[in-house]
Amino acid sequence: MKTEFPIYRFKELNTPFYYYDLSILRNTLEVLKNESEKYGYKIHYALKANSNPVLLKIISSYGFGADCVSWNEIERALSCGFNPEKIVFAGVGKSDYEISNALKAGILCFNCESLQELDVINNIAGELGLTARVALRINPNVDAHTHHHIATAKEDSKFGIIISEIEEAVLKLESLKNIVLIGIHFHIGSQITRMQVFRNLCSRINEITDWFSSRKIDLKIINVGGGLGIDYHEPDNLPAFAEYFSVFKELLRLYPGQELHFEPGRSVVAQCGSLISKVLFIKNGSNTKFAIIDAGMTDLIRPALYQAYHKIENITPQSLNTIIHYDVVGPICESSDTFGKYVELPKTRRGDLIAIRSAGAYGEVMASRYNLRNLPYSVFSEDTK
Ligand code: LLP
Repeated sequence: MKTEFPIYRFKELNTPFYYYDLSILRNTLEVLKNESEKYGYKIHYALKANSNPVLLKIISSYGFGADCVSWNEIERALSCGFNPEKIVFAGVGKSDYEISNALKAGILCFNCESLQELDVINNIAGELGLTARVALRINPNVDAHTHHHIATAKEDSKFGIIISEIEEAVLKLESLKNIVLIGIHFHIGSQITRMQVFRNLCSRINEITDWFSSRKIDLKIINVGGGLGIDYHEPDNLPAFAEYFSVFKELLRLYPGQELHFEPGRSVVAQCGSLISKVLFIKNGSNTKFAIIDAGMTDLIRPALYQAYHKIENITPQSLNTIIHYDVVGPICESSDTFGKYVELPKTRRGDLIAIRSAGAYGEVMASRYNLRNLPYSVFSEDTK
């Protein structure tokens, strides 16, 4: 399936904006549902990738759960139709009010990231007369082979409980009366394209679940987080869901009655979104030509922050097919406000529309108001009223 841009509609609109192709989203969700249900795997969509209510309502309608990292995300998930019993709450720094609200909302579980957090959740649950379900987020020390800003499971990472503290966590849990342990949780990083990384994760998890079993501790849920990467060079390709799940099916040993849960974010929403912008100026540098567009790093920060590649297309119909290379840059007063260097485009003019592809994940949600710019708005492929 290919995104077709309604250029004539776009011409009437102010730029920049995010354009979401909802049929691409549905198609992705369909494949995700079929491939995960084959093995009875449970999905919690990671809201941090995109929490636009229009998208969330569609995602929740497929029966998926949600992975949230703030009370505001939980509240958003609830208001968009996600079932509280399918919501998990992660994050190294949950505030007291967030814990308390999540408990009252009756979420499935807290993915706990430190020993002290266990005490705090136990106390708050006690004050509310409730029992908190928790999963221990364990740092398995597996290299994700991805950009260092989005790798989360090396030894020195702030995420999760280190392996050498699991024993202490388990002893502590025995004494905490308002908490029940229902599982263990992992998330080793994002934009992982090498299946070998997930294979390594499976063997590490097998060792860990064996350890719990040897201690006669039942774990109902094994949650392996998200991380499946997408092909930024081929924006119309779907993520490799079938291959991904089959790795876990083949290598991860589940004990009887154990459930396997996943938290995909990027792979669900990246391909349905593009950032649409207009060319403001073309100018010469000493060695290059610049196409200056009206979207900036405030609208899509990934290239500036992670040197991320996004395919850039000039979507205005062209009469000539002269190809020129441009540095495509935004209007912000920072040199890192560059979407791509030496990008091959048809001869581009002021007023042409530019699509920055695969921007549905970690695009709109990471926008800022730096330079006092407006936040980008969103446009959908169909009427959403
Ligand atoms: N679960 C947990 C606990 C996470 O921390 C994340 C992402 C996910 C699931 C979803 O991972 P995904 O399937 O999207 O890879 N802003 C960065 C990505 C940060 C990812 C943070 N955690 C980017 O633009 O590449």
